[in-house]
Amino acid sequence: MIRPGDVVVNIERVCVELEQLAQFSDSPAPSVTRILFTQPDLEARIFVCERMSQAGLQVHTDAAGNIFGRWDAGDPLLPPVATGSHIDAIPHAGRFDGTVGVLGGLEALRTLRESGFQPKRPLELIVFNSEEPTRYGIGCLGSRLLSGQLDTLRASQLVDTNQVTFEETRRMAGCHGSLADVVLSPGQYHAFVELHIEQGPKLEEASIPIGVVTAIAAPAAVRVVFHGKGGHAGTVLMPERVDALLPAAQLALVVEQLALHEGGHDTVATTGLLQVHPGAINSIPSRVTMEIDVRDIELDRRNRVLDRIQQQAQEIGNDRNLKTTVELINADPPATCNPTVVAAVKDTCRTIDVTCLEMISRAYHDALFMALIAPTTMVFIPCRDGISHRPEEFATPEAIKTGIHVLAGTLKRLAE
Ligand code: GLV
Ligand code: MN
Ligand code: MN
Repeated sequence: MIRPGDVVVNIERVCVELEQLAQFSDSPAPSVTRILFTQPDLEARIFVCERMSQAGLQVHTDAAGNIFGRWDAGDPLLPPVATGSHIDAIPHAGRFDGTVGVLGGLEALRTLRESGFQPKRPLELIVFNSEEPTRYGIGCLGSRLLSGQLDTLRASQLVDTNQVTFEETRRMAGCHGSLADVVLSPGQYHAFVELHIEQGPKLEEASIPIGVVTAIAAPAAVRVVFHGKGGHAGTVLMPERVDALLPAAQLALVVEQLALHEGGHDTVATTGLLQVHPGAINSIPSRVTMEIDVRDIELDRRNRVLDRIQQQAQEIGNDRNLKTTVELINADPPATCNPTVVAAVKDTCRTIDVTCLEMISRAYHDALFMALIAPTTMVFIPCRDGISHRPEEFATPEAIKTGIHVLAGTLKRLAE
């Protein structure tokens, strides 16, 4: 029996909204491609803002494109409790990464309002801009700026593959004002809790419906460019060539070996991007750009592997007489979650009789940066076969419902 004050999640409404949001995509269903400030992203942002306004939230967008929806309740002088995630999606992704935290966060606030809950402090939903690094090469662009971890001049000068700057695209998207005004100070939020699919197999394997995150692994990214000499694939003989793809191929194998043999069990390294210029079968590659992602739970070990990758890139380029540029895009420390906020999730789970597992997040999230300015944790729900960043990504309505229930209960605890 539902009693007054109970949190009642309307999962049908959330599933419809997830389905609607998935339509804003540059690739056919079931895949989703929604890259920062492209048409699908702009339309998705409007869709989400409309839903937030309909839920009675006061919506505004900052100069970096982060969207805030505030439930103006309680004492306006008290720092709010916030939840949120992202709606951008890497090429050929699924429909649940980030979106569950945005639409699930929205549903959590709606159910709390509908239950008659009177918070002591305001509550907020944040839709962080560009958590994915696809367009500007750096992940968590919005939350990095919010937490003061990205120099605003560097941010405005970031360029995409067409050499269009972030400054230009944000202004075209209607985000005006100075990026410097985006930065939040510690203490501006009472707490932050992000709901997300696990993106790994642990919860499903253990048949546990909820994970509470105690730490987020340390991500880093490096860009290497090998500048060779192009030429005709038929007429330039092998001894005369300076092929920019060959050192890149060597380096990709070295990256794998370094992660396997110099790292530990938790070290992962991926060459996820390789751009070959000019990209024609009958043309010797004259320039190759690689982007390499390196992560670990232990910062020193991650840094050791990262340093070795950068050294090896230079050495391989030198050995082949190529001009080589190595640029560190980001090297972030891991985040430690706040024990009080973690306890709020666990207490909520206990109250509603849901099993909960403490876990580490191997993926990065906006929570990595929010943890620097607010007591933070994350609520994970299982996803099928642990799959993410692929069209097959899936979370059941039941799993999403439980996640929203736990999120709503946690926000309630933190805001009362
Ligand atoms: C986030 O999408 C990540 O790559 O961990
Ligand atoms: Mn992702
Ligand atoms: Mn995500």
